[in-house]
Amino acid sequence: MVTFLENPLRVGLQQQRMPEPQIIVIYGASGDLTQRKLVPALYKLRKERRIPPETTIVGVARRDWTHDYFREQMRQGIEEFSDGLGAEGLWQDFSQGLYYCSGDMDNPESYQKLNNLLTELDEKRGTRGNRIFYLSVAPKFFAEGIKQLGNAGMLEDPYKHRLVIEKPFGRDLASAQSLNRVVQKYCHESQVYRIDHYLGKETVQNLLVFRFANAIFEPLWNRRFVDHVQITVAETVGVEDRAGYYESSGALRDMLQNHLMQLFCLTAIEPPNALDADSLRTEKVKVLQATRLADIQNLHRSAVRGQYSAGWMKGKTVPGYHEEPGVNPGSTTPTYVAVKFLVDNWRWQGVPFYLRTGKRMPKKVSEISIHFREVPSQMFPSASQQMGSNILAMRIQPNEGISLRFEVKMPGAEFRTRSVDMDFTYGSFGIAATSDAYDRLLLDCMMGDQSLFTRADEVEAAWQVVTPVLSVWDAPADPATVPKYEAGTWEPAEAELLINQDGRRWRRL
Ligand code: BG6
Repeated sequence: MVTFLENPLRVGLQQQRMPEPQIIVIYGASGDLTQRKLVPALYKLRKERRIPPETTIVGVARRDWTHDYFREQMRQGIEEFSDGLGAEGLWQDFSQGLYYCSGDMDNPESYQKLNNLLTELDEKRGTRGNRIFYLSVAPKFFAEGIKQLGNAGMLEDPYKHRLVIEKPFGRDLASAQSLNRVVQKYCHESQVYRIDHYLGKETVQNLLVFRFANAIFEPLWNRRFVDHVQITVAETVGVEDRAGYYESSGALRDMLQNHLMQLFCLTAIEPPNALDADSLRTEKVKVLQATRLADIQNLHRSAVRGQYSAGWMKGKTVPGYHEEPGVNPGSTTPTYVAVKFLVDNWRWQGVPFYLRTGKRMPKKVSEISIHFREVPSQMFPSASQQMGSNILAMRIQPNEGISLRFEVKMPGAEFRTRSVDMDFTYGSFGIAATSDAYDRLLLDCMMGDQSLFTRADEVEAAWQVVTPVLSVWDAPADPATVPKYEAGTWEPAEAELLINQDGRRWRRL
Protein backbone atom coordinates (compact mmCIF):
# COMPACT_ATOMS: atom_id res chain seq x y z
CA MET A 1 0.00 0.00 0.00
CA VAL A 2 1.30 3.45 -0.86
CA THR A 3 1.81 5.65 2.13
CA PHE A 4 0.20 9.07 2.20
CA LEU A 5 3.60 10.50 2.98
CA GLU A 6 4.96 9.66 -0.44
CA ASN A 7 6.18 12.72 -2.28
CA PRO A 8 3.20 13.53 -4.54
CA LEU A 9 5.51 14.72 -7.29
CA ARG A 10 6.97 11.29 -7.70
CA VAL A 11 3.66 9.56 -8.23
CA GLY A 12 2.99 9.25 -11.95
CA LEU A 13 -0.21 9.34 -14.00
CA GLN A 14 -0.48 5.60 -14.33
CA GLN A 15 -0.91 3.71 -11.13
CA GLN A 16 -3.31 1.18 -9.81
CA ARG A 17 -2.47 1.42 -6.13
CA MET A 18 -4.89 1.94 -3.30
CA PRO A 19 -4.91 5.29 -1.47
CA GLU A 20 -4.64 5.52 2.29
CA PRO A 21 -7.85 5.68 4.33
CA GLN A 22 -8.89 9.31 4.53
CA ILE A 23 -11.72 11.71 5.20
CA ILE A 24 -13.05 13.78 2.33
CA VAL A 25 -14.71 16.91 3.61
CA ILE A 26 -17.01 18.43 1.02
CA TYR A 27 -17.92 22.08 1.50
CA GLY A 28 -21.14 22.82 -0.38
CA ALA A 29 -22.57 19.40 0.45
CA SER A 30 -26.16 20.45 -0.17
CA GLY A 31 -25.32 21.54 -3.71
CA ASP A 32 -25.84 19.80 -7.03
CA LEU A 33 -22.24 18.85 -7.65
CA THR A 34 -22.02 16.80 -4.45
CA GLN A 35 -25.19 14.87 -5.14
CA ARG A 36 -24.77 14.44 -8.89
CA LYS A 37 -21.04 13.98 -9.29
CA LEU A 38 -18.82 13.83 -6.23
CA VAL A 39 -20.53 11.26 -4.05
CA PRO A 40 -21.60 9.06 -7.01
CA ALA A 41 -17.95 9.16 -8.18
CA LEU A 42 -16.70 8.10 -4.73
CA TYR A 43 -19.33 5.37 -4.63
CA LYS A 44 -18.16 4.12 -8.02
CA LEU A 45 -14.58 4.04 -6.76
CA ARG A 46 -15.70 2.07 -3.72
CA LYS A 47 -17.71 -0.31 -5.90
CA GLU A 48 -14.64 -0.93 -8.02
CA ARG A 49 -12.56 -1.40 -4.86
CA ARG A 50 -10.23 1.43 -5.82
CA ILE A 51 -10.55 3.13 -2.43
CA PRO A 52 -10.43 1.52 1.01
CA PRO A 53 -13.57 0.78 3.04
CA GLU A 54 -12.44 3.21 5.74
CA THR A 55 -12.94 6.12 3.30
CA THR A 56 -15.16 8.64 5.05
CA ILE A 57 -17.09 11.56 3.61
CA VAL A 58 -18.17 14.53 5.66
CA GLY A 59 -20.59 16.93 4.00
CA VAL A 60 -20.57 20.52 5.21
CA ALA A 61 -23.17 23.16 4.35
CA ARG A 62 -25.27 25.76 6.06
CA ARG A 63 -28.49 23.76 6.17
CA ASP A 64 -29.43 21.97 9.32
CA TRP A 65 -29.35 18.39 8.04
CA THR A 66 -28.84 15.23 10.07
CA HIS A 67 -26.35 12.51 9.12
CA ASP A 68 -29.29 10.34 8.06
CA TYR A 69 -30.86 13.03 5.90
CA PHE A 70 -27.52 13.61 4.18
CA ARG A 71 -27.16 9.85 3.60
CA GLU A 72 -30.61 9.73 2.06
CA GLN A 73 -29.85 12.65 -0.28
CA MET A 74 -26.65 10.95 -1.39
CA ARG A 75 -28.41 7.62 -1.91
CA GLN A 76 -30.88 9.34 -4.22
CA GLY A 77 -28.01 10.99 -6.07
CA ILE A 78 -26.25 7.67 -6.62
CA GLU A 79 -29.45 6.05 -7.84
CA GLU A 80 -30.33 8.88 -10.17
CA PHE A 81 -26.97 10.00 -11.50
CA SER A 82 -24.86 6.86 -11.65
CA ASP A 83 -25.41 3.24 -12.52
CA GLY A 84 -27.13 2.48 -9.24
CA LEU A 85 -26.37 1.09 -5.81
CA GLY A 86 -25.10 -2.28 -7.09
CA ALA A 87 -24.46 -5.23 -4.82
CA GLU A 88 -26.51 -5.50 -1.69
CA GLY A 89 -24.62 -4.47 1.36
CA LEU A 90 -22.35 -2.08 -0.51
CA TRP A 91 -24.57 0.90 0.14
CA GLN A 92 -25.00 -0.11 3.80
CA ASP A 93 -21.27 -0.23 4.18
CA PHE A 94 -20.60 2.99 2.24
CA SER A 95 -23.32 4.97 4.01
CA GLN A 96 -21.74 4.17 7.38
CA GLY A 97 -18.93 6.41 6.25
CA LEU A 98 -21.16 9.39 5.38
CA TYR A 99 -21.48 12.21 7.91
CA TYR A 100 -22.86 15.72 7.88
CA CYS A 101 -21.77 18.78 9.80
CA SER A 102 -23.67 22.05 9.41
CA GLY A 103 -21.59 25.18 9.47
CA ASP A 104 -20.99 28.67 8.15
CA MET A 105 -17.93 29.31 6.06
CA ASP A 106 -17.14 32.52 7.88
CA ASN A 107 -17.68 31.32 11.42
CA PRO A 108 -14.54 30.03 13.22
CA GLU A 109 -16.72 27.99 15.59
CA SER A 110 -17.98 25.89 12.67
CA TYR A 111 -14.41 24.89 11.87
CA GLN A 112 -13.80 23.97 15.49
CA LYS A 113 -16.92 21.83 15.49
CA LEU A 114 -15.83 20.17 12.24
CA ASN A 115 -12.34 19.58 13.54
CA ASN A 116 -13.73 17.82 16.61
CA LEU A 117 -15.87 15.60 14.41
CA LEU A 118 -12.88 14.76 12.20
CA THR A 119 -10.76 13.82 15.19
CA GLU A 120 -13.56 11.59 16.45
CA LEU A 121 -13.90 9.98 13.03
CA ASP A 122 -10.17 9.35 12.76
CA GLU A 123 -10.52 7.24 15.87
CA LYS A 124 -13.74 5.54 14.82
CA ARG A 125 -12.95 4.93 11.12
CA GLY A 126 -9.19 4.58 11.18
CA THR A 127 -8.53 7.49 8.81
CA ARG A 128 -5.22 8.43 10.47
CA GLY A 129 -5.57 12.21 10.21
CA ASN A 130 -5.60 12.14 6.39
CA ARG A 131 -7.94 14.80 5.05
CA ILE A 132 -9.07 16.30 1.79
CA PHE A 133 -11.00 19.56 1.95
CA TYR A 134 -13.04 19.92 -1.23
CA LEU A 135 -14.38 23.43 -1.85
CA SER A 136 -17.47 22.97 -3.95
CA VAL A 137 -18.99 26.28 -2.97
CA ALA A 138 -19.62 29.55 -4.82
CA PRO A 139 -16.22 31.03 -5.79
CA LYS A 140 -16.74 34.09 -3.59
CA PHE A 141 -16.34 31.79 -0.55
CA PHE A 142 -13.04 30.18 -1.64
CA ALA A 143 -10.71 32.68 0.01
CA GLU A 144 -12.68 32.84 3.25
CA GLY A 145 -12.89 29.05 3.50
CA ILE A 146 -9.14 28.66 2.97
CA LYS A 147 -8.33 31.36 5.53
CA GLN A 148 -10.60 29.79 8.13
CA LEU A 149 -9.27 26.28 7.51
CA GLY A 150 -5.75 27.65 7.70
CA ASN A 151 -6.36 29.62 10.88
CA ALA A 152 -7.95 26.57 12.49
CA GLY A 153 -4.72 24.66 11.75
CA MET A 154 -6.60 22.27 9.48
CA LEU A 155 -4.21 22.67 6.52
CA GLU A 156 -1.08 22.51 8.60
CA ASP A 157 0.28 19.12 7.62
CA PRO A 158 1.65 19.28 4.04
CA TYR A 159 1.45 15.50 3.69
CA LYS A 160 -1.88 14.73 5.31
CA HIS A 161 -4.00 17.75 4.40
CA ARG A 162 -5.06 18.49 0.85
CA LEU A 163 -7.21 21.19 -0.63
CA VAL A 164 -9.36 20.82 -3.74
CA ILE A 165 -10.66 24.00 -5.36
CA GLU A 166 -13.43 23.84 -7.94
CA LYS A 167 -13.45 26.12 -10.94
CA PRO A 168 -13.59 29.00 -11.68
CA PHE A 169 -10.26 29.90 -10.11
CA GLY A 170 -10.57 33.68 -10.13
CA ARG A 171 -12.46 35.75 -12.67
CA ASP A 172 -9.42 37.45 -14.18
CA LEU A 173 -5.66 37.59 -13.69
CA ALA A 174 -5.75 39.90 -10.67
CA SER A 175 -8.36 37.86 -8.76
CA ALA A 176 -6.58 34.57 -9.59
CA GLN A 177 -3.33 36.03 -8.30
CA SER A 178 -5.00 37.24 -5.16
CA LEU A 179 -6.62 33.82 -4.55
CA ASN A 180 -3.26 32.15 -5.16
CA ARG A 181 -1.73 34.40 -2.52
CA VAL A 182 -4.31 33.24 0.02
CA VAL A 183 -3.75 29.60 -0.97
CA GLN A 184 0.01 29.98 -0.71
CA LYS A 185 -0.21 31.60 2.68
CA TYR A 186 -1.83 28.53 4.18
CA CYS A 187 -0.70 25.65 1.96
CA HIS A 188 2.27 24.30 0.11
CA GLU A 189 1.55 24.02 -3.63
CA SER A 190 1.86 20.22 -3.33
CA GLN A 191 -1.31 20.25 -1.18
CA VAL A 192 -3.42 22.10 -3.76
CA TYR A 193 -5.64 20.51 -6.41
CA ARG A 194 -7.29 23.04 -8.73
CA ILE A 195 -9.97 21.17 -10.64
CA ASP A 196 -10.65 21.31 -14.35
CA HIS A 197 -12.90 18.34 -14.98
CA TYR A 198 -11.90 18.22 -18.68
CA LEU A 199 -8.52 16.89 -17.57
CA GLY A 200 -10.29 13.92 -16.02
CA LYS A 201 -11.90 12.93 -19.32
CA GLU A 202 -10.51 9.72 -20.75
CA THR A 203 -10.17 11.12 -24.25
CA VAL A 204 -8.36 14.22 -23.04
CA GLN A 205 -5.77 12.07 -21.32
CA ASN A 206 -5.56 10.02 -24.48
CA LEU A 207 -4.22 13.10 -26.22
CA LEU A 208 -1.00 12.64 -24.28
CA VAL A 209 -0.78 8.99 -25.21
CA PHE A 210 -1.59 9.71 -28.84
CA ARG A 211 1.07 12.37 -29.09
CA PHE A 212 3.83 10.85 -27.02
CA ALA A 213 3.38 7.09 -27.39
CA ASN A 214 3.34 7.13 -31.20
CA ALA A 215 6.49 7.93 -33.09
CA ILE A 216 4.82 8.66 -36.43
CA PHE A 217 2.82 11.75 -35.56
CA GLU A 218 5.41 13.75 -33.65
CA PRO A 219 7.52 14.61 -36.75
CA LEU A 220 4.37 16.11 -38.34
CA TRP A 221 3.24 18.01 -35.25
CA ASN A 222 4.68 21.42 -36.08
CA ARG A 223 4.62 24.46 -38.38
CA ARG A 224 6.21 22.59 -41.28
CA PHE A 225 3.23 20.29 -41.70
CA VAL A 226 0.33 21.81 -39.77
CA ASP A 227 -1.65 24.59 -41.43
CA HIS A 228 -3.89 25.34 -38.45
CA VAL A 229 -5.68 23.76 -35.50
CA GLN A 230 -9.35 24.02 -34.51
CA ILE A 231 -10.71 23.27 -31.06
CA THR A 232 -14.48 23.17 -30.64
CA VAL A 233 -16.59 22.56 -27.57
CA ALA A 234 -20.25 22.94 -28.55
CA GLU A 235 -23.12 22.40 -26.15
CA THR A 236 -26.83 22.11 -26.83
CA VAL A 237 -27.89 23.24 -23.37
CA GLY A 238 -28.62 26.87 -22.65
CA VAL A 239 -27.84 28.66 -19.43
CA GLU A 240 -30.36 26.40 -17.58
CA ASP A 241 -31.04 27.60 -14.04
CA ARG A 242 -27.53 28.96 -13.57
CA ALA A 243 -28.04 32.57 -14.63
CA GLY A 244 -26.92 33.77 -11.19
CA TYR A 245 -23.47 32.34 -11.82
CA TYR A 246 -23.36 32.55 -15.60
CA GLU A 247 -24.26 36.22 -15.90
CA SER A 248 -21.00 37.18 -14.22
CA SER A 249 -19.04 34.49 -16.02
CA GLY A 250 -20.01 33.84 -19.68
CA ALA A 251 -18.45 31.52 -22.23
CA LEU A 252 -14.96 32.97 -22.01
CA ARG A 253 -14.62 32.52 -18.26
CA ASP A 254 -16.82 29.45 -17.92
CA MET A 255 -15.35 27.36 -20.73
CA LEU A 256 -12.57 28.91 -22.77
CA GLN A 257 -10.09 30.05 -20.13
CA ASN A 258 -10.12 26.61 -18.53
CA HIS A 259 -11.53 23.64 -20.48
CA LEU A 260 -10.61 24.76 -24.01
CA MET A 261 -7.26 26.13 -22.97
CA GLN A 262 -6.42 22.80 -21.36
CA LEU A 263 -7.25 21.06 -24.64
CA PHE A 264 -5.14 23.65 -26.41
CA CYS A 265 -2.21 23.11 -24.02
CA LEU A 266 -2.18 19.37 -24.42
CA THR A 267 -2.26 19.77 -28.20
CA ALA A 268 0.52 22.33 -28.29
CA ILE A 269 2.96 21.39 -25.50
CA GLU A 270 6.44 20.07 -26.04
CA PRO A 271 7.00 16.48 -24.90
CA PRO A 272 7.51 16.64 -21.12
CA ASN A 273 10.60 14.94 -19.65
CA ALA A 274 8.31 12.59 -17.77
CA LEU A 275 4.63 12.24 -17.03
CA ASP A 276 4.92 13.48 -13.50
CA ALA A 277 2.87 16.42 -12.37
CA ASP A 278 5.54 19.07 -12.50
CA SER A 279 7.14 18.10 -15.82
CA LEU A 280 3.73 18.15 -17.49
CA ARG A 281 2.57 21.37 -15.90
CA THR A 282 5.85 23.12 -16.60
CA GLU A 283 5.37 22.39 -20.32
CA LYS A 284 1.84 23.74 -20.18
CA VAL A 285 3.03 26.94 -18.55
CA LYS A 286 5.72 27.30 -21.22
CA VAL A 287 3.26 27.03 -24.05
CA LEU A 288 0.79 29.41 -22.38
CA GLN A 289 3.55 31.95 -21.90
CA ALA A 290 4.28 31.79 -25.63
CA THR A 291 0.60 32.18 -26.58
CA ARG A 292 -1.12 35.42 -27.54
CA LEU A 293 -4.23 36.63 -29.29
CA ALA A 294 -3.45 36.97 -32.97
CA ASP A 295 -4.14 40.69 -33.27
CA ILE A 296 -4.61 42.67 -30.08
CA GLN A 297 -4.83 46.04 -31.88
CA ASN A 298 -7.79 44.80 -33.91
CA LEU A 299 -9.53 42.65 -31.37
CA HIS A 300 -12.37 41.61 -33.70
CA ARG A 301 -9.74 39.84 -35.80
CA SER A 302 -8.81 37.57 -32.90
CA ALA A 303 -11.84 37.30 -30.63
CA VAL A 304 -15.57 37.25 -31.29
CA ARG A 305 -18.38 36.89 -28.78
CA GLY A 306 -22.01 35.98 -29.35
CA GLN A 307 -25.30 35.44 -27.59
CA TYR A 308 -28.02 33.01 -28.57
CA SER A 309 -31.38 34.40 -29.58
CA ALA A 310 -34.63 32.42 -29.56
CA GLY A 311 -34.69 29.44 -31.89
CA TRP A 312 -35.53 25.79 -32.33
CA MET A 313 -33.91 22.83 -30.63
CA LYS A 314 -35.11 19.27 -31.19
CA GLY A 315 -38.39 20.49 -32.68
CA LYS A 316 -39.19 22.85 -29.82
CA THR A 317 -38.86 26.59 -29.52
CA VAL A 318 -36.36 27.75 -26.94
CA PRO A 319 -35.95 31.26 -25.54
CA GLY A 320 -33.06 33.55 -26.33
CA TYR A 321 -30.43 34.27 -23.67
CA HIS A 322 -32.05 37.58 -22.72
CA GLU A 323 -35.36 35.82 -22.04
CA GLU A 324 -33.86 33.16 -19.76
CA PRO A 325 -34.90 33.38 -16.08
CA GLY A 326 -32.51 35.51 -14.06
CA VAL A 327 -30.76 37.06 -17.07
CA ASN A 328 -30.58 40.83 -17.26
CA PRO A 329 -32.33 41.88 -20.51
CA GLY A 330 -29.46 44.30 -21.15
CA SER A 331 -26.80 41.63 -20.55
CA THR A 332 -23.69 41.50 -22.74
CA THR A 333 -22.51 38.20 -21.25
CA PRO A 334 -21.33 36.00 -24.11
CA THR A 335 -22.79 32.51 -24.52
CA TYR A 336 -20.43 31.95 -27.44
CA VAL A 337 -16.81 32.84 -27.94
CA ALA A 338 -14.27 32.21 -30.67
CA VAL A 339 -10.62 33.21 -30.52
CA LYS A 340 -7.55 32.98 -32.70
CA PHE A 341 -4.31 32.30 -30.86
CA LEU A 342 -0.76 32.33 -32.13
CA VAL A 343 2.09 30.60 -30.34
CA ASP A 344 5.47 32.28 -30.54
CA ASN A 345 7.81 29.33 -30.34
CA TRP A 346 9.84 27.22 -32.75
CA ARG A 347 7.21 24.55 -33.14
CA TRP A 348 4.16 26.70 -33.82
CA GLN A 349 5.33 30.06 -35.18
CA GLY A 350 2.67 31.28 -37.62
CA VAL A 351 0.21 28.40 -37.08
CA PRO A 352 -3.17 29.74 -35.92
CA PHE A 353 -5.15 27.92 -33.25
CA TYR A 354 -8.86 28.68 -33.55
CA LEU A 355 -10.89 27.90 -30.43
CA ARG A 356 -14.68 28.18 -30.19
CA THR A 357 -17.31 27.26 -27.67
CA GLY A 358 -20.98 28.03 -27.31
CA LYS A 359 -24.25 27.08 -25.72
CA ARG A 360 -27.40 26.25 -27.69
CA MET A 361 -25.42 24.97 -30.65
CA PRO A 362 -27.00 22.34 -32.92
CA LYS A 363 -24.98 19.47 -31.40
CA LYS A 364 -23.09 18.54 -28.27
CA VAL A 365 -19.65 17.88 -29.61
CA SER A 366 -16.06 18.50 -28.50
CA GLU A 367 -13.25 17.99 -30.94
CA ILE A 368 -9.68 18.96 -31.69
CA SER A 369 -8.78 18.91 -35.37
CA ILE A 370 -5.30 19.27 -36.80
CA HIS A 371 -5.49 20.56 -40.38
CA PHE A 372 -2.37 19.71 -42.33
CA ARG A 373 -0.90 21.77 -45.12
CA GLU A 374 -1.95 21.10 -48.66
CA VAL A 375 0.36 19.21 -50.99
CA PRO A 376 2.98 21.57 -52.43
CA SER A 377 2.04 21.03 -56.06
CA GLN A 378 -1.17 19.81 -57.55
CA MET A 379 -0.52 16.73 -59.71
CA PHE A 380 -4.15 15.87 -60.31
CA PRO A 381 -5.64 18.93 -61.98
CA SER A 382 -8.99 17.33 -62.61
CA ALA A 383 -9.27 16.59 -58.92
CA SER A 384 -8.02 19.87 -57.52
CA GLN A 385 -11.50 21.27 -56.96
CA GLN A 386 -12.55 18.62 -54.50
CA MET A 387 -9.24 17.83 -52.90
CA GLY A 388 -9.11 18.57 -49.21
CA SER A 389 -6.11 18.64 -46.93
CA ASN A 390 -5.44 15.90 -44.42
CA ILE A 391 -7.24 16.31 -41.11
CA LEU A 392 -6.57 14.48 -37.90
CA ALA A 393 -9.60 14.80 -35.66
CA MET A 394 -9.67 13.83 -32.01
CA ARG A 395 -13.22 13.53 -30.77
CA ILE A 396 -13.42 14.25 -27.06
CA GLN A 397 -17.17 13.62 -26.83
CA PRO A 398 -19.48 12.06 -27.91
CA ASN A 399 -18.52 9.09 -30.11
CA GLU A 400 -15.04 9.36 -28.57
CA GLY A 401 -12.30 8.47 -30.98
CA ILE A 402 -9.78 9.59 -33.56
CA SER A 403 -10.05 9.87 -37.32
CA LEU A 404 -7.58 10.67 -40.04
CA ARG A 405 -8.82 12.13 -43.30
CA PHE A 406 -6.90 11.50 -46.49
CA GLU A 407 -7.48 11.42 -50.23
CA VAL A 408 -8.04 8.29 -52.30
CA LYS A 409 -8.58 7.77 -55.99
CA MET A 410 -12.15 7.08 -56.99
CA PRO A 411 -12.41 3.89 -59.07
CA GLY A 412 -12.59 4.65 -62.78
CA ALA A 413 -10.61 5.86 -65.76
CA GLU A 414 -10.11 9.42 -64.48
CA PHE A 415 -7.96 10.65 -61.63
CA ARG A 416 -10.90 11.69 -59.49
CA THR A 417 -10.12 11.86 -55.81
CA ARG A 418 -12.25 11.67 -52.71
CA SER A 419 -11.66 12.29 -49.00
CA VAL A 420 -12.10 9.31 -46.71
CA ASP A 421 -11.77 8.94 -42.94
CA MET A 422 -9.84 6.23 -41.19
CA ASP A 423 -11.64 5.94 -37.92
CA PHE A 424 -10.97 4.63 -34.45
CA THR A 425 -13.76 4.75 -31.88
CA TYR A 426 -13.39 4.04 -28.20
CA GLY A 427 -16.59 2.05 -28.47
CA SER A 428 -14.57 -0.66 -30.23
CA PHE A 429 -12.91 -1.47 -26.89
CA GLY A 430 -16.33 -2.39 -25.55
CA ILE A 431 -15.66 -0.10 -22.57
CA ALA A 432 -17.17 3.35 -22.30
CA ALA A 433 -14.65 6.18 -22.31
CA THR A 434 -17.23 8.54 -20.96
CA SER A 435 -16.85 8.37 -17.23
CA ASP A 436 -17.72 11.63 -15.58
CA ALA A 437 -14.09 12.44 -14.91
CA TYR A 438 -14.69 13.11 -11.23
CA ASP A 439 -13.89 9.55 -10.20
CA ARG A 440 -10.52 9.78 -11.89
CA LEU A 441 -9.76 13.18 -10.40
CA LEU A 442 -10.87 12.25 -6.89
CA LEU A 443 -8.80 9.10 -6.97
CA ASP A 444 -5.76 11.01 -8.20
CA CYS A 445 -6.18 13.52 -5.41
CA MET A 446 -6.48 10.73 -2.84
CA MET A 447 -3.29 9.23 -4.28
CA GLY A 448 -1.47 12.56 -4.19
CA ASP A 449 -1.07 12.78 -7.98
CA GLN A 450 -1.38 16.38 -9.17
CA SER A 451 -0.76 15.72 -12.87
CA LEU A 452 -4.37 16.37 -13.87
CA PHE A 453 -4.78 19.49 -11.75
CA THR A 454 -3.69 23.01 -12.61
CA ARG A 455 -0.77 24.68 -10.90
CA ALA A 456 -0.81 28.26 -9.61
CA ASP A 457 1.40 29.67 -12.39
CA GLU A 458 -0.55 27.74 -15.02
CA VAL A 459 -3.92 29.16 -14.09
CA GLU A 460 -2.42 32.65 -14.02
CA ALA A 461 -0.76 32.18 -17.41
CA ALA A 462 -4.11 31.13 -18.90
CA TRP A 463 -5.78 34.27 -17.52
CA GLN A 464 -2.93 36.36 -18.88
CA VAL A 465 -3.63 35.20 -22.44
CA VAL A 466 -7.28 36.25 -22.35
CA THR A 467 -6.81 39.46 -20.38
CA PRO A 468 -6.87 41.77 -23.46
CA VAL A 469 -10.29 40.40 -24.41
CA LEU A 470 -11.68 40.64 -20.91
CA SER A 471 -10.62 44.22 -20.52
CA VAL A 472 -12.63 45.19 -23.60
CA TRP A 473 -15.63 42.90 -23.13
CA ASP A 474 -16.05 43.72 -19.43
CA ALA A 475 -16.62 47.39 -20.23
CA PRO A 476 -20.30 48.42 -20.32
CA ALA A 477 -21.65 48.16 -23.85
CA ASP A 478 -24.86 48.38 -25.79
CA PRO A 479 -26.24 44.80 -25.88
CA ALA A 480 -27.03 45.32 -29.57
CA THR A 481 -23.28 45.33 -30.27
CA VAL A 482 -22.99 41.70 -29.14
CA PRO A 483 -23.45 39.47 -32.21
CA LYS A 484 -26.40 37.08 -32.07
CA TYR A 485 -26.88 33.54 -33.32
CA GLU A 486 -30.14 31.71 -33.34
CA ALA A 487 -30.43 28.87 -30.81
CA GLY A 488 -29.87 25.61 -32.66
CA THR A 489 -27.48 27.11 -35.21
CA TRP A 490 -23.72 27.39 -35.33
CA GLU A 491 -21.77 30.59 -34.68
CA PRO A 492 -22.68 34.19 -35.45
CA ALA A 493 -21.56 35.53 -38.84
CA GLU A 494 -18.77 37.53 -37.15
CA ALA A 495 -17.19 34.27 -35.96
CA GLU A 496 -17.34 32.88 -39.50
CA LEU A 497 -15.43 35.97 -40.57
CA LEU A 498 -12.80 35.42 -37.89
CA ILE A 499 -11.63 32.31 -39.68
CA ASN A 500 -12.75 33.18 -43.23
CA GLN A 501 -10.49 36.25 -43.19
CA ASP A 502 -7.59 33.78 -43.26
CA GLY A 503 -9.06 31.78 -46.16
CA ARG A 504 -10.13 28.98 -43.85
CA ARG A 505 -13.48 27.78 -42.50
CA TRP A 506 -14.83 26.14 -39.40
CA ARG A 507 -15.13 22.43 -39.63
CA ARG A 508 -18.75 21.32 -39.84
CA LEU A 509 -19.32 18.79 -37.09
C1 BG6 B 1 -18.75 23.31 -16.80
C2 BG6 B 1 -19.41 24.60 -17.18
O1 BG6 B 1 -17.48 23.54 -16.28
O2 BG6 B 1 -18.64 22.49 -17.96
C3 BG6 B 1 -20.78 24.34 -17.81
O3 BG6 B 1 -19.57 25.41 -16.02
C4 BG6 B 1 -20.65 23.38 -18.96
O4 BG6 B 1 -21.35 25.57 -18.25
C5 BG6 B 1 -19.88 22.14 -18.55
O5 BG6 B 1 -21.96 23.04 -19.39
C6 BG6 B 1 -19.58 21.25 -19.74
O6 BG6 B 1 -19.00 20.06 -19.30
P1 BG6 B 1 -19.15 18.71 -20.14
O7 BG6 B 1 -18.35 17.72 -19.38
O8 BG6 B 1 -20.62 18.42 -20.19
O9 BG6 B 1 -18.61 19.00 -21.50
